[in-house]
Amino acid sequence: MSSRPRVYVTRPDVDASGLELLRKSCNVSTWKEALPVPREVLLREVAGCEAVYCALTDKIDAEVLDAAGSQLKCVSTISVGYEHIDVEECRKRGIRVGFTPDVLTDATAELTLALLLATNRRLFEASKQVYNGGWKSWAPMWMCGQGLKGSRPAEITYTTRTARPQEAAAVNGRHVDFDEMLRNSDFIVACCALTPETKEIFNAGAFKKMKPNCIFINTARGGVVDQKALHEALDSKRILAAGLDVTTPEPLPLDDPLLKLDNVVILPHIGSADIETRKEMSRITARNILAALAGGKMESEVTV
Ligand code: DGY
Repeated sequence: MSSRPRVYVTRPDVDASGLELLRKSCNVSTWKEALPVPREVLLREVAGCEAVYCALTDKIDAEVLDAAGSQLKCVSTISVGYEHIDVEECRKRGIRVGFTPDVLTDATAELTLALLLATNRRLFEASKQVYNGGWKSWAPMWMCGQGLKGSRPAEITYTTRTARPQEAAAVNGRHVDFDEMLRNSDFIVACCALTPETKEIFNAGAFKKMKPNCIFINTARGGVVDQKALHEALDSKRILAAGLDVTTPEPLPLDDPLLKLDNVVILPHIGSADIETRKEMSRITARNILAALAGGKMESEVTV
């Protein structure tokens, strides 16, 4: 019998460079299809594994940890977000949790900016007109957005539990409380983690406080927004528009009322989808596992 540790990978299509690292010293098996592994298969396949390489589409809870068995040493997710993992349960059982922060920050910032500009200048709405015959002629006030000039993009404010003066200094950012941010911003970008404190923090009350020209961007998690309240705010023109890279649920059902609105741009959770970023995320996920199996320091470990 092999003494090489067993690792189960829940996606077949993660970049091969990560899998190659694992294969040097582990027996690796992967789910074979591009869609998330069905729960019953996950529960069966993790049995006897020392590590699980998972993604944000896999719920890793006590049931999965039980199914894996007491030899499980590490759960490593190819994401910065780890709300899909019961970290507390892992901690109780001495199972280490790896994640991939930092490496995807630039890619996600880039996508956030793209979404902001696309929403602000109504790019998707305008593009649709090219295909559906709505483009009859150039017209002076047709498809106008509000533009960046004259708004307050030069003044960056941010709200976090604790001020981050060093990071803020780099962009001349000013720390404000949540309420001030809601009331004064032309653009609001949600990029926080989904936690019990941030769940549906953007609710009806929050949208009511926003300026009527406010554009709301979410590249964090769908769960930070009360989506029904967002729909109401957009439909009633309480706020100007929204750009969403994340929704609840994902994928968004084709009959979701948000899809009927013109003033929302929705992308399929591609914030970090830059080739080099995803390759490095795959390698970090693998290196986290290798470090945990060797009892060493993980590159990025979730600590609670
Ligand atoms: C993450 O890493 O949490 C992103 O949402 C997907 O890359």
